[in-house]
Amino acid sequence: MKKSVPEMLYPSLRLFFEEYAAIHLTDDEDLCRNALLKRDHTWRVCALAEKIAGSLKMNAGETALALLSSLLHDIGRFEQYASYRTFSDLHSENHALVGLRIIEKHELISPLSEADRELVLSAVEHHNAQALPVGLDERTLRHARLIRDADKLDILPLMINYSETRHLAKNPGMEGKLPDTPGFSPEIIDVILCCGTVSNAMRKNQNDMRLVQLAWLLDLNFPWSYSYAFEQKFAQRMCSFLPDDPMIDRVYEHVARTVAAGMR
Ligand SMILES: [Fe+2]
Repeated sequence: MKKSVPEMLYPSLRLFFEEYAAIHLTDDEDLCRNALLKRDHTWRVCALAEKIAGSLKMNAGETALALLSSLLHDIGRFEQYASYRTFSDLHSENHALVGLRIIEKHELISPLSEADRELVLSAVEHHNAQALPVGLDERTLRHARLIRDADKLDILPLMINYSETRHLAKNPGMEGKLPDTPGFSPEIIDVILCCGTVSNAMRKNQNDMRLVQLAWLLDLNFPWSYSYAFEQKFAQRMCSFLPDDPMIDRVYEHVARTVAAGMR
């Protein structure tokens, strides 16, 4: 059967991505380490996106579109880190919008139909928003949700692993310019328990960052994503790096209940 345009475009864009990432693998150790982090994250997000697409029984063309969005969702991270030496959008600029500029500059998705181009651009633009805008059509919404899940499902273990090893080697790029002070912000707990996801702007320290990421588990979209989060024990593992406190216990129970319900 003849391949769709997204299926034909995906292999060449993988090559472009590999070469684009390689530009940032210089002898600048800090830049190199963080470019590798984002390159490898992107490959894993592509693999997770393929799993989610499979669980949704997407056809080959739709799966290829999901993979294109996954491949490009963090393309802005390389320029962001090279320019600002941080992955904090609050301290630099929105990396999703940097990504849109790069996609446009290199005409990366010009072979796609106009509808598919808009879908990929929308998925990239909104992948890191606290919530998706209202008014997206069903198909765009499905793709935007898919990339958001795949992204979160890779960042969570990345951050958990970093919490495990940061006493050995700190990477300021992973710390969001937030201090490692004791305690956490109770107002973040209130937001998690009442409303779900939390704005990055509320974070005051490393524990707040962990809480905000823990709350991502309240904002997954597909049963496969919840099952994966459950199997990988993300909630328990993230909470093991948070203070021993009844408020944290309440958040853990709320998140664990939501994950269990989402698997069905
Ligand atoms: Fe990402």
